[in-house]
Amino acid sequence: MTTCTPTADRLQATAMPPPAAPAARAAPAALPSATAPAGPLLQACGLAIGQGGPGDSAQRPLQQGLDFALAPGEVLVIAGASGCGKSTLLRTLVGLAAPLAGQVLHAGTDFYAADTPQQTQLRQRFGVMFQAGALWSSMSVGDNVMLPLQLFTRLAPRDCEALARYKLALVGLADAFDLMPGALSGGMRKRAAVARALALDPPMLFLDEPSAGLDPVASARLDALVLQLRNLGTGIVMVTHELESIFGVADRLLFLDVATRTMTALGPPRQLLDSGPAPVREFLRRGSGSAGPGPSPNPGHGGAA
Ligand SMILES: Nc1ncnc2c1ncn2[C@@H]1O[C@H](COP(=O)(O)OP(=O)(O)OP(=O)(O)O)[C@@H](O)[C@H]1O
Ligand SMILES: [Mg+2]
Repeated sequence: MTTCTPTADRLQATAMPPPAAPAARAAPAALPSATAPAGPLLQACGLAIGQGGPGDSAQRPLQQGLDFALAPGEVLVIAGASGCGKSTLLRTLVGLAAPLAGQVLHAGTDFYAADTPQQTQLRQRFGVMFQAGALWSSMSVGDNVMLPLQLFTRLAPRDCEALARYKLALVGLADAFDLMPGALSGGMRKRAAVARALALDPPMLFLDEPSAGLDPVASARLDALVLQLRNLGTGIVMVTHELESIFGVADRLLFLDVATRTMTALGPPRQLLDSGPAPVREFLRRGSGSAGPGPSPNPGHGGAA
């Protein structure tokens, strides 16, 4: 197991209650080692991201010097101006875009240094919702959600279906099982993608702008689902611009600065609103004039900038 000590991180690992049993659960994904859950789920160590590959010095990184970690039962929100590299960072964290420098550790294992079978195991420990949803258009919504269960578990077909229906119900799409993705609205597609990300009950979730384009009620429901999963011990990395989501669900906010091309803040959003760097405070006050986070801060997690 590899270790790194994120310099910018003041992670407070918090013991969480064990996950409550849903109607049916997928077999837990195989872990790289029996002791894997003890430490952070995810660590970024001296990460530089961008197009190109490791050692590709011709390219100026989109972001560099990224150090942070994700604990079980923590919601880490990534924010920053459009084009600053949030989706690229997410793709790097989930193993789809090798970093230009630094390491991505999943449960202590360096993802990009791992061999293919190890990477396959690690991939079963997280679900991803991409910014564009990315459902298979030739498969029904139900088949999309069942696919990870069919690929990575030995569940009987009727159990796969029951689980997929349960996940769809969780995101408010109980009636969408037989629909094709093309028949869904943009917001419904996003929620279906969240259901697919949840299929294997992964300990870690990556969500890229899950609320964008959703109506306020659907958006609030999604936030409630994120909090519910977090309270069950899931670690969640979420990209969002939505202030209500940030103040409602984020334990900590990671701010990527587009001008300096590095993280300029990491901490609880309210703390950053009060005493973060000026551009971060400005971002968090955006549109509300007097900085109006809602009245109910997310309790339970600390951490400092
Ligand atoms: N595959 C790619 N090839 C070349 N450039 C890319 C690629 N993907 C992203 N980029 C560029 O990298 C930069 C960061 O893109 P990214 O999608 O990570 O930004 P973002 O912060 O997620 O933006 P948004 O808030 O608009 O979603 C942009 O300038 C984008 O044009
Ligand atoms: Mg993006």
